[in-house]
Parts: sequence; C-alpha cells; structure tokens
Amino acid sequence: MSGIVLDRVSVRVPVDGSPAPKTLLQMVSLSLTERRIGVIGANGSGKSTLLRLLNGLVAPSDGSVMVHGADTARAVREVRRRVGFVFTDPLSQLVMPTGREDVELSLRRSIRNAAERRAHAEAVLDRFGLLPLADQSIYELSGGERQLLALAAVLAVDPEVLVLDEPSTLLDLRNRELLRRTLAGLRQQVILSTHDLELAMDMDRVLVVDAGQVVFDGGPAAAVAHYRQLSPASLPTAGINLGRPADELAGDGLARARQDRLDKR
Ligand SMILES: Nc1ncnc2c1ncn2[C@@H]1O[C@H](COP(=O)(O)OP(=O)(O)OP(=O)(O)O)[C@@H](O)[C@H]1O
Ligand SMILES: [Mg+2]
Repeated sequence: MSGIVLDRVSVRVPVDGSPAPKTLLQMVSLSLTERRIGVIGANGSGKSTLLRLLNGLVAPSDGSVMVHGADTARAVREVRRRVGFVFTDPLSQLVMPTGREDVELSLRRSIRNAAERRAHAEAVLDRFGLLPLADQSIYELSGGERQLLALAAVLAVDPEVLVLDEPSTLLDLRNRELLRRTLAGLRQQVILSTHDLELAMDMDRVLVVDAGQVVFDGGPAAAVAHYRQLSPASLPTAGINLGRPADELAGDGLARARQDRLDKR
C-alpha cells in the first residue's frame, strides 16, 4: 500500500496525580499521499505529536498508523528506515562532535567503504553550503547552521519520506530560501509542520490542527485562511495575559526577585 494512512488515531498520555489521561490527538483519520503536505496550528495544538506518529516516535493509544503498508507500532525499524525525521531542535538529533562525523555516522550502514562514505558526506554538506564548517564543533555552529546540518544528515541516507518539525524557525532569509528550494526539488514525499505561513503556501495540501483534532484539510490558501480565522478567538484582548495586572506583579516584588536572580548569574 502506498502513502501513509492514519486510521482513527488517538494519542493519550498519563498525567501525574490525575486518574484521567491527557488527550493529545483525538480520532485522526488521514490518507497522506500528496508529495508536499503541511501541518499548521497554534502552539500546543498537536502538530509535533501528529508528525511523531509518522515514524513511530509516538505510538497511537487507539487506531493505527501505516507507512507504505508497515505498522509504525510493530515495524518501527522498517518505518524509521523509510521515514527521515528532522527535529525542531537540531541538538536533539546531532550526536557527533562535528558535522562531518554526524553525516558520516548517518551513512555508516549504507556505505561500508570509508573513503566513499567521506566523499558522499562531503557532497551532502556541500549541497547545503556547510563544507567549510564540516570540522567545526556542532556547539560552535549557529542555530541556523545546525538546523541545515540536521536536514543534511537526514537527507544523506535518502529516506522515502521526509518529516520536518518546523524546519525554518532558525533560518535567515537566504537559508530559508535554500530550504524552500531544496524541499521543492526533493524526490521524497515531504510532510512538515510550520508557523511559517509562506512555507505552508508551498505545499500541495495543508492540515490545520486545533486542540488535538484536524479541523481543516485542503489547499494551502484555504487552510491558512482557516487558521487565521481560528487564531484571534484564542488571543487575550490586551496582549499577553499574566493572570494579574502588571503593576500588581511589579508591586509584590516578583519582578524585582527575577531581576536579582538575573543579576547574580
Ligand atoms: N509527553 C507528554 N506529556 C504530557 N503532555 C504532552 C506530552 N507531549 C505533548 N504534550 C502536550 O500535548 C500538546 C500538544 O503538543 P505538541 O508538541 O504536539 O504541540 P505543537 O502543536 O507541536 O506545538 P508547538 O507549535 O508549540 O510546537 C501540548 O499541550 C503539550 O504540552
Ligand atoms: Mg511542535
């Protein structure tokens, strides 16, 4: 079977001190066959949870997720081979001291010969303009350089499906364009979550997630319009709502205590 199929998927997690679990996703059924699929929605709506289902990082509490016929709960290794996952925070996926070593690590199974592996790693790094930084500590790369490196390390093994959780958050204008062009040119199916609505507009199909449910599923322009129309309703009327008036917070010493703590660092 081709594509990715979610059949009545719910995700629940236990909550400390509460007998009732928390529902992160509720009864989601989808057939994901388009080449470019975006997921948009508010913070905490369930986008990352939905993406994590696609390579078995999260298992469904009810229902099933099938990737090209393989069940993500039963055939995790096979699913992970097919689905490359790029995390929002590159440091949660980069494990080696340098970019070169990280990309070579990705390739260690597919290319046995060390010289060939090195040459392929260099070609992948070069594609993202990262070759001059190949031997620099990943901790000394900028956030955007690390984000590109994380994408390069996943693409190096040429997965069938590429899942990216907010891939453009740390990128400057130039690298964001590089990302958009790269994604547009990939042979892989691409499924990504984003708060970057221009990036969402590049997709063939966009899902809007709200409170653990897919509330819209269609073309990008209509999806973005739906998301915009959802958003004002949940915004506090006068900016960020701290629960108490700001002068009360300042008056009770909380702000001063916070400043003292910062000064001591
Ligand atoms: N393991 C967990 N235990 C408890 N709650 C969780 C867990 N994982 C996620 N959540 C909660 O589930 C909800 C959805 O989280 P998720 O990370 O999927 O949101 P998101 O749409 O990706 O948000 P963002 O735009 O901020 O990245 C959030 O309220 C989050 O706090
Ligand atoms: Mg997220």
